[in-house]
Amino acid sequence: MTTWSGRVEGRLDEQVWEFLRADDAELLPYDCEATAEHARRLAAAGILSADELDEVEARLAEIAQDPSGYLETDEDVHSAIERLLGDVGRKIHAGRSRNDQVVAAFRLYVLDACAEAREAIDALALVCLSFAETEAETVMPGYTHLQRAQPITFGHHLLAWVEMLDRDRTRFAAAAEAAAESPLGAGALAGSTLALPPPPRQMRNSIDAVADRDFALDYLYAAAVLFTHLSRIGEEIVLWASQEFGFVKLPESAATGSSMMPHKLNPDVAELVRGKAGTAIGRLTGLLATVKGLPLAYDRDLQEDKAPVFAARRDVRLALEALTVLVSGLEVDRARMAKAAADPLLLATDVAEALVRKGVPFRDAHEQVAASVRDGTFRKPRRAAPRPAPGPGGIREALAEARRRFVDNL
Ligand code: ARG
Repeated sequence: MTTWSGRVEGRLDEQVWEFLRADDAELLPYDCEATAEHARRLAAAGILSADELDEVEARLAEIAQDPSGYLETDEDVHSAIERLLGDVGRKIHAGRSRNDQVVAAFRLYVLDACAEAREAIDALALVCLSFAETEAETVMPGYTHLQRAQPITFGHHLLAWVEMLDRDRTRFAAAAEAAAESPLGAGALAGSTLALPPPPRQMRNSIDAVADRDFALDYLYAAAVLFTHLSRIGEEIVLWASQEFGFVKLPESAATGSSMMPHKLNPDVAELVRGKAGTAIGRLTGLLATVKGLPLAYDRDLQEDKAPVFAARRDVRLALEALTVLVSGLEVDRARMAKAAADPLLLATDVAEALVRKGVPFRDAHEQVAASVRDGTFRKPRRAAPRPAPGPGGIREALAEARRRFVDNL
């Protein structure tokens, strides 16, 4: 039995049914929450009695707890909930449509997914921050073009990861802000003649309320950018753990062996994080393409909005958790890093800048030092100038500032 069986007499073809059915079980508890909110509005308008409201709320709590009542014969989670509510369910759909209902539930889902992402990002950032504290004085080569460039500390580099993650928190917060409005009251697209009280933060335009999926796009964008960051972190770990670099050793809790080569310890976590970045970007571009050109207000195309968000939520959580285990178990080979950083050419820029301090124009200084590098007469200065990076107060101040942002602000 469908919610629209009064209109369509014949049964749908089985394949058509299978094609149309929504794969939306994950939405069930969120729809129960949105439905309870709607029921309270119905009660306030005198359409549900106080007893009926109690019954609906109690039943919804049960359904949210135990999703096993959602059957293959239900068209989607909304129809299932209406059926599972029993007799009182026949009153519940007054003044609403699945068009506003689905967005109300989906917005609650995205809000939760954003909060979950921010927690997992914080956990990884805190591990990077503690790591940066331990490795604050560990000297390593810094790279541009993957060529040794200038000496840095490992702590400085790890704090760059913390900055990337900090911006990711901001992006998920922005997606949550976009999701935090309510489409309830919009009905199918034009509201209803029943005088229901408006929900908190009701959207201004009922047509926009059922057509808008920006909050889902914002979430997928935040996830895509997060994954591009994680893929860069992953790639650095892959490089550093290689015998060629040898800067870090992978922990056995987050590395894998080879089925054939007995000696291997592989950075699969870092690689899969890198690989999943492609999928994360695909989810964003996929939903953008779905929404592109859709006439307002609701179209069934929009049912495609949920699968990428469900999958992204899972990947975001699992990838962050796995990377947190990996990073917290990395063993640093400081001697190896120091040896690589002892390459005298890393101070070529310092030598040029020493000449600048003596009044030589920078371009002349650059050419003089470059010539000495080319003909092999380059000598590194006896004393390297102190490095102010990563900020004017040096690494200690940068660490303290990051702690204030991440720990005190939690
Ligand atoms: N399962 C649908 C979706 O996810 C719910 C809305 C269906 N609305 C409709 N008018 N057929 O979009």
